[in-house]
Amino acid sequence: MTFEEAMRARHMVRRYTEKPLPEDIVAQLNQRIEENNQTHHLAIRLMLNDTNAYQGIVKLLLAKGVKNYFIMAGDDAPDLGERLGYAGADLMLFAQTLGLNTWWASGTFSRKNTAAAVGNKKVLGVVAVGYGASQGVQHKMKKATEVSAYEGIAPQWFSNGVAAALLAPTALNKQAFFVQGIGDKVNLTYKEGTFSGVDKGLVKYHFELGAGKGCFQWM
Ligand SMILES: Cc1cc2nc3c(=O)[nH]c(=O)nc-3n(C[C@H](O)[C@H](O)[C@H](O)COP(=O)(O)O)c2cc1C
Repeated sequence: MTFEEAMRARHMVRRYTEKPLPEDIVAQLNQRIEENNQTHHLAIRLMLNDTNAYQGIVKLLLAKGVKNYFIMAGDDAPDLGERLGYAGADLMLFAQTLGLNTWWASGTFSRKNTAAAVGNKKVLGVVAVGYGASQGVQHKMKKATEVSAYEGIAPQWFSNGVAAALLAPTALNKQAFFVQGIGDKVNLTYKEGTFSGVDKGLVKYHFELGAGKGCFQWM
């Protein structure tokens, strides 16, 4: 499965089967985490056979069978959310290419327990990873015209980028982004909110994947 295919196949999955992650899959996930940590100066960590991130009712009812997850962490900085969102998109799609499913949660998890596992770095969420009990369902999408504008006739790469951005996971599926294009320049904004930094990073990664990095420059 390519990353483009993974982008279409990926949906939030909150229930997982008992099937453990094979060793070679764990090694590949850890290597990808390491690459993202180095590139984006982050402290993401994969937790295996651990349920500490999920507490109480969430553990009981929502996070069914979740035993493995990424802790999305780094040193506190104004752009930490965006970097974690960008790296998280890469990890979620990489996991999907390996036949796994994922679920990003920034509200329904234990900040305290996860911070302890990453040397008290700032934790902005967790991403459950494993063999889903289902493949999830496609989220409701806004129209391209609601989230984008291009000066003149939009080139194919721009339309592809917007279509891909609409496939990105966002908190409460808000899709509160706006993409503006002029010539080969693209500007991405995200409506201010609790997880807008993370959402912006996720959307940015998806736009790049859809449009093709060589076609444009971020403004
Ligand atoms: C930043 C962020 C925070 C999220 N927080 C939660 C959460 O606390 N609990 C939850 O059940 N889902 C959470 N989600 C999952 C979203 O609801 C889900 O990704 C969105 O509805 C889009 O669906 P999709 O992932 O299937 O595309 C979060 C997603 C993102 C990107």
